[in-house]
Amino acid sequence: MKRSRIVDILDNPKIGEELNVKGWVRSFRNNQFIQINDGSTIKNIQAVVDLNSFSDEDLKGISVASSISVVGKLVESQGKGQSCEIQVNTFEVLGKADPEEVQKTVMQPKRHSLEFLRDQAHLRFRTNTFGAVFRIRHAASYAIHKYFNDKGFYYLNTPIITGSDAEGAGEMFRVSVFPPNEAPLDESGSINWKEDFFGKETNLTVSGQLEAELGALALGAVYTFGPTFRAENSNTSRHLAEFWMIEPEVAFNDLKDNMDLTEDFLKYVCTYILDNCKDDLQFLNERGINEDKQKPQNERQELSLIERLEFVANNDFERITYTEAIDLLMQSKPYKKKKFKYPVEWGTDLQSEHERYLVEKHFKKPVIITDYPASFKAFYMRLNEGGKTVAAMDVLFPGIGEIVGGSQREERFEVLKQKIADFNIPEEELWWYLDTRKFGTVVHSGFGLGFERMVMFLTGMGNIRDVIPFPRTPKNAEF
Ligand code: 4AD
Ligand code: MG
Repeated sequence: MKRSRIVDILDNPKIGEELNVKGWVRSFRNNQFIQINDGSTIKNIQAVVDLNSFSDEDLKGISVASSISVVGKLVESQGKGQSCEIQVNTFEVLGKADPEEVQKTVMQPKRHSLEFLRDQAHLRFRTNTFGAVFRIRHAASYAIHKYFNDKGFYYLNTPIITGSDAEGAGEMFRVSVFPPNEAPLDESGSINWKEDFFGKETNLTVSGQLEAELGALALGAVYTFGPTFRAENSNTSRHLAEFWMIEPEVAFNDLKDNMDLTEDFLKYVCTYILDNCKDDLQFLNERGINEDKQKPQNERQELSLIERLEFVANNDFERITYTEAIDLLMQSKPYKKKKFKYPVEWGTDLQSEHERYLVEKHFKKPVIITDYPASFKAFYMRLNEGGKTVAAMDVLFPGIGEIVGGSQREERFEVLKQKIADFNIPEEELWWYLDTRKFGTVVHSGFGLGFERMVMFLTGMGNIRDVIPFPRTPKNAEF
């Protein structure tokens, strides 16, 4: 008999039908009621054993976490909590789970701390919370591909191993086949990278943008969605050493078009999840409300998870320049009362305390900040008139901080060449990038969305380690 998925049975219950369900036991009550989950939905199906047909001996292998195949008839449920259930005719325990061992794991059905769940990342998929998070992660990924496909963008796979540092931050993981301590040296005594696998220094990519630009300058509109690596030693709840980034790039778009695209795109993804992940969202919504109750009043969220998604989907983002942001901060209470730890002055980067004030206290909605000083933004951003600022944009979300970074790109050959020199980037590293500005150069723009930061927003999870299956962070690559 063909196996039925629990989600399909519950979506369209055919009472009286004989069916087969396979899954993992979530609980087994009174030697009679088996709750089975197969991962297709957060909901379990209840299978009921007739005590006259099976002896205790027959039922011995059924315990929490064991896998089971059940054949029986779908009937209307007598009990509370479910509309239908399966009357078991036959069953087979596929894989046993020792109850004593299960006690020590996250599969033991009770509340566990997220830290404990992280230590068992190989088993945490079995919990309601992580089932919901990873189903939503999948749906968000699908929504992103669908959005760009429907808008005529081409999905471009940019290289994972590269020879350039797109962001210029120098936070890269080296890729080399040289054995440690035995790398060949050149006459001057430095490592001779010419003898390495690629004949040059290479690293894992920090961004696919530069290559995406090359694609956009012929295909019109492209996007990447790939793994991204940053060797920054920041042990925060928002940083990973390996994360996934979505980077659309569009020819003929200026900064305003870029902001419009970002806003429309982020709203679309929120709406998609609201429409398509109702059960999982409902579960995480309640989880968030309960978690909030444990917190002091001033740390609680004003809106629940679902309300936050609806709010973003239905309200315009605030758009201000960096200069306006500095002015607002200088007029703010925390500034006047000297509550900010970091200085607020034109020319220094905004710290997360400043961003949080603007987004969570002042505007209480997503904010796009544009036109930052050129001094602390990447070399490829288009220089504004006056030469002090660049056509940059950061999107800041409540509770997350920076979720998107993007810009209009410098399309003018001479200006770009000068900037590459000013940033001390060897031109031979980027000749191919500069070259595109010689052949029919055009205005173009793009941005990067940190996928995990988006999934944090969509699920309400507070730590980025809990929205990627196997997080990579400093001193941590266990699974
Ligand atoms: O602001 P970033 O560094 O911008 C770029 O890489 C550009 N090349 C994007 C572009 O214009 N095509 O990174 C973009 C986003 C950030 O806003 C953040 O959401 C995410 O990537 N991000 C990280 N997410 C998790 N862990 C990290 N260490 C991250 N660093 C950046
Ligand atoms: Mg950034």
